[in-house]
Amino acid sequence: MGRKERIAIVGAGLMGHGIAQVFAVAGHAVGVYDVQTPALETLRSRITRNLVELGLDVAAAQRVEACAHLSDAVARADVVFEAGPENLEWKQKMFGQLEQLAPAQALLASNTSVIPITRIMQEVASAHRAMGTHWWNPPYLVPLVEVIKTPSTDGCAARSMFDLLTAVGKTPAMVEKDVPGFIGNRMQHALWREAIALVAEGVCDAETVDTVVKASFGRRLPVLGPLENADLVGTDLTLAIHESVLPALDATPGPSPYLKNLVESGRLGMKTGEGLRRWTAEPQVRLRARVTAHLKAMNAADSR
Ligand SMILES: NC(=O)c1ccc[n+]([C@@H]2O[C@H](COP(=O)([O-])OP(=O)(O)OC[C@H]3O[C@@H](n4cnc5c(N)ncnc54)[C@H](O)[C@@H]3O)[C@@H](O)[C@H]2O)c1
Repeated sequence: MGRKERIAIVGAGLMGHGIAQVFAVAGHAVGVYDVQTPALETLRSRITRNLVELGLDVAAAQRVEACAHLSDAVARADVVFEAGPENLEWKQKMFGQLEQLAPAQALLASNTSVIPITRIMQEVASAHRAMGTHWWNPPYLVPLVEVIKTPSTDGCAARSMFDLLTAVGKTPAMVEKDVPGFIGNRMQHALWREAIALVAEGVCDAETVDTVVKASFGRRLPVLGPLENADLVGTDLTLAIHESVLPALDATPGPSPYLKNLVESGRLGMKTGEGLRRWTAEPQVRLRARVTAHLKAMNAADSR
């Protein structure tokens, strides 16, 4: 082929600008649409700031064009990523427009965190080219993108998306069934549910939960996935452990009453100074900086 696909992104927020950056760095032309003028006006400067922090060529930001009209961003696009508000009706309406405005063969993808892709695309007539692409924040530092198929998604369309993401340096994962939480968030929140239950039951405090994870299996996770680990210790041992432990795990079907109480009493986490743990300004800044430095170091190690 030789030609780099033209990318369109709807939403210039936290995820949209980061996704734009990934494609621009890989040499693609990117059009980004947003309804908010400030989001468009700051788009290139936010990307430039990230590129400086990463030690990358800031010229990539020039490949990103801020578009005040949806049609300007998508009319010539090969692939459209939607990264707008997390609202089902809004996304359904947006994909109705995208289907009309984007070229007939363009791939259409939603970056929803949790809304079933099948519901978002239920009114899309050309649903064979529609799918989910679940990026993780920040998109230019976290490798994974889950590619989610609905029952109507054409296998070749999903494979083209997978190959495109691979070509720009991401680690795509094909999600064959559109299940709530896809793969990553489903497992992440199974862990968070148990973590909250341990605190609610008085087994330990929240700080201890975090220490236990970070100082034990969290250390191995970047190089040893849970199923590699199960095979490493043996499925027979895994079965014995599950027979003993699974009946004791939290199986509450909805959110924990402990979590609900935190929210109802205004303990919303870092933004209010207290959630599961207490937070003054300085530890918040330090923690965010540590996470970014860690992600950068892991990417640097991957590329060695
Ligand atoms: N933040 C995360 O960690 C994360 C991770 C994975 C997926 N997501 C999902 O990605 C999507 C975007 O999340 P975000 O964190 O970037 O949100 P955000 O609020 O930072 O960005 C959303 C952008 O959409 C714009 N917008 C609002 N109405 C619009 C319209 N009619 N047309 C075009 N743009 C419009 C807003 O102005 C804003 O710039 C959501 O569906 C979210 O659930 C978020």
